[in-house]
Amino acid sequence: MTDDLFSPLELRGTELPNRVMVSPMCQYSCEDRDGLATDWHRVHLGSRATGGAGVVMTEATAVEPRGRISPHDLGVWSDEHADALAPVAEFVRAQGSVPAIQLAHAGRKASISRPWEGHEPLSPDEGGWEAIAPSATPYPGREDVALREMTQADVSDVIEAFRSGAERALAAGFEIAEVHAAHGYLLHEFLSPVANDRTDEYGGSFEDRARLVVEVTEAVREVWPDDRPVFVRISGTDWLPDRDSWTREQSARLADLLADAGADLIDVSSGGLHPDQQLPAGGPNYQVPLAEHVRAESERDVAVGAVGGITTAQQADALVRNERADLAIVGREHLRDPHFALRAARELDALDRIDVPEQYERAY
Ligand code: FNR
Repeated sequence: MTDDLFSPLELRGTELPNRVMVSPMCQYSCEDRDGLATDWHRVHLGSRATGGAGVVMTEATAVEPRGRISPHDLGVWSDEHADALAPVAEFVRAQGSVPAIQLAHAGRKASISRPWEGHEPLSPDEGGWEAIAPSATPYPGREDVALREMTQADVSDVIEAFRSGAERALAAGFEIAEVHAAHGYLLHEFLSPVANDRTDEYGGSFEDRARLVVEVTEAVREVWPDDRPVFVRISGTDWLPDRDSWTREQSARLADLLADAGADLIDVSSGGLHPDQQLPAGGPNYQVPLAEHVRAESERDVAVGAVGGITTAQQADALVRNERADLAIVGREHLRDPHFALRAARELDALDRIDVPEQYERAY
């Protein structure tokens, strides 16, 4: 039988009840500089779980303080952070959704103010901090952020920060850990020759540029239980066709390396590395061909998630039915409608295949 949006998906010992995932989305809602989850995170993520999404993923959650994008990002660098996240994971799970966490490091795109405060680079005397990156080349336009090239000791520290972030995420009750290697943040900076000029074993050839994300994935996999899935979000392309950059062909090769490192699903987004990117307009399914490419070309049995411009039930369902992707990852439409999955079930005549909260039954 053909799978559709309301078919469960088995990944290791975890069953996703349907194929809708809430895409990770920064909320910039921690109190100044502490990275601890607040009521906002509990209500925001909790309401997407009451809305029926099979997987509810946190925003980019920094594995160390200098890996935050803004001073208001979530973090998971201490046990106190895990304690603050635990009620989020518990509530999501209690609704029948699978709680997931995106583990992140912002690299050279760290230390900016939040969008509604201008997304401005923050120097250390404005509450910013020194960022680290594969090379000391700033993200264009953000020359005010203090930045230095990572030493080999920094590389080891970052791997350990992802490993211990995953351990804490597990203690907090999350079922899926996603490694954020997209959108021009640290791990993508290592992947792309546009941001990586290193001459050690973490730069140069495809294998060397891929080394860090592979080692991070292995480290997360080592501490993540065998029966729980690990996802990796990648940018399928830099959208910089005129220069030596990260491409969809490299993404498909990377998917194989990540699968060998223990990843169960590749979440395929795109871009974010450089402001010259030639991103398509962002219409319906605008990144789906990249996910499809990875799914078709990967030689491993790894699941693939598609994200970008998925806004309707029919669109999400068709992605799964037509085997273009295994998971429909929905971002902004979930900001507009926390109950996207319940609405989709209603529109697709599948209410008998989703758990409607008893409190909401009279609406369905
Ligand atoms: C995002 N996005 C994003 N991606 C990611 O991997 N980690 C993150 O923390 C964030 N943060 C974030 C915040 C906000 C407010 C938006 C709108 C987006 C990207 C997001 O997950 C998604 O990939 C894109 O929005 C494209 O999907 P949609 O929105 O077209 O469904």
